[in-house]
Amino acid sequence: MTSSTHYAAARPRRPTEGRQTVSDELTSRSDETASGALASVPASGPGRSPAADPEALRERAATALLTARDRTLALTGCVDDDELKAQHSPLMSPLVWDLAHVGNQEEIWLVREAGRRPALRPELDAMYDAFQHPRADRPALPLLSPDRARAYIADVREHALDVLDRAALKQAGGRGDALLGDAFVFGMIAQHEQQHDETMLATHQLRRGAAALTAADPPPAAVDPADLPCEVLVPGGPFVMGTSTEPWALDNERPAHLAGVPAFWLDTFPVTNAAYRRFIDDDGYRDPRWWSDAGWEHRQGAALEAPLFWQRDGDGWLRRRFGVVEPVPPHEPVMHVCWYEADAYARWAGRRLPTEAEWEKAARHDPDGGRSRRYPWGDADPGPQHANLGQRHLRPAPVGAYPDGASPLGVHQLIGDVWEWTASDFLPHPGFTAYPYKEYSEVFFGPQYKVLRGGAFGVDPVACRGTFRNWDHPIRRQIFSGFRTARDAEGVR
Ligand SMILES: [Fe+2]
Repeated sequence: MTSSTHYAAARPRRPTEGRQTVSDELTSRSDETASGALASVPASGPGRSPAADPEALRERAATALLTARDRTLALTGCVDDDELKAQHSPLMSPLVWDLAHVGNQEEIWLVREAGRRPALRPELDAMYDAFQHPRADRPALPLLSPDRARAYIADVREHALDVLDRAALKQAGGRGDALLGDAFVFGMIAQHEQQHDETMLATHQLRRGAAALTAADPPPAAVDPADLPCEVLVPGGPFVMGTSTEPWALDNERPAHLAGVPAFWLDTFPVTNAAYRRFIDDDGYRDPRWWSDAGWEHRQGAALEAPLFWQRDGDGWLRRRFGVVEPVPPHEPVMHVCWYEADAYARWAGRRLPTEAEWEKAARHDPDGGRSRRYPWGDADPGPQHANLGQRHLRPAPVGAYPDGASPLGVHQLIGDVWEWTASDFLPHPGFTAYPYKEYSEVFFGPQYKVLRGGAFGVDPVACRGTFRNWDHPIRRQIFSGFRTARDAEGVR
């Protein structure tokens, strides 16, 4: 349900046990290659999100739901009904399908499951089940009209907020309904709606025609990247990957476990458009040396020559961004590249993509405290000083724009701006348990998907953490995807 491509829906199965609760603290340094679930200890400490008392949880859940709904209505209120019903790309649903789907999932999980109330519109379940209908087929369904979809999701929301008002919210791990622990199911549904909002934002990017969205530009660079080293040494040794204490973390982020990562060098910033242009100018797209066999085959078959939405303009390049055609800005992270392009660039640069474990260690490991933190800057929720998130802007910020969001080792912009492709397949963490249903992420595990980390400018903070995992096919590039590169640090511990 978290992938940019696969927002799943399925019949819920009521869980019978609470989620595992263990610490995210690094408890052992004895095994440099350890990889396994940590022993169970009570959840506490600075790695834990603060909202534990029921009223604070209720407030947090209500705010997350309302924030998501405001964004959904903005994304669907800025175009007319014909545009809402149109399919702007076979990769995407009509916007009006997403609109009713978020309400249908909310009805299933908050009204029926959490509230144990009768179904409001059970006849809609099949039509808005993502597994029953591939995106390409959805325009042919007898979908609710935009007005009826808005009325339906408003009705569901009224019931859902009433359920929230009356719910006996408990801290996870305590006795009672596991879905209500830490208000998890409300957080799950708020994240689900925000993830569909990100998908709808991608639909807006694919849509042709005049601009429908506007936003302020992101901040300029506050530090000159040329004044900083171009790469950072991340020391070797085990660190705590994943989480068992983050209240609204999804099943694929769990549990906390030790992962061994040898020392490596990581780019200080994501790869910029200017750097990527050097790869293009060096005929990187025409040299099979830099491409994997599958990547070269795809590059040829799809005739890839530049990132999606780029077009040549004499000696330069233009890009189309939400209905505006503009020169490609050199200092922004490159975006709309597929995994094969990222992999080829890294090889051309004499480097490689970081593994998912390397990325998370760079983003969470505190070398002084030996602890894994929630974000590169610490445990505080993301603010506008930390990262470009939440669709405050409609583009990545230039590199150097968020020094307050850098990691202790000096890696910048790991969170926000662009999703970052990693070298890794989407696989379960050791000790994984599907929750609250198998189709949430388990059915997507395997080599067909590559993991992306860090979130992009269109990702809401509620759906972005140092542990958050996104996944997609290696050919996809309509998503807000970029990357950074790494290399081994031989002889360094
Ligand atoms: Fe979904």
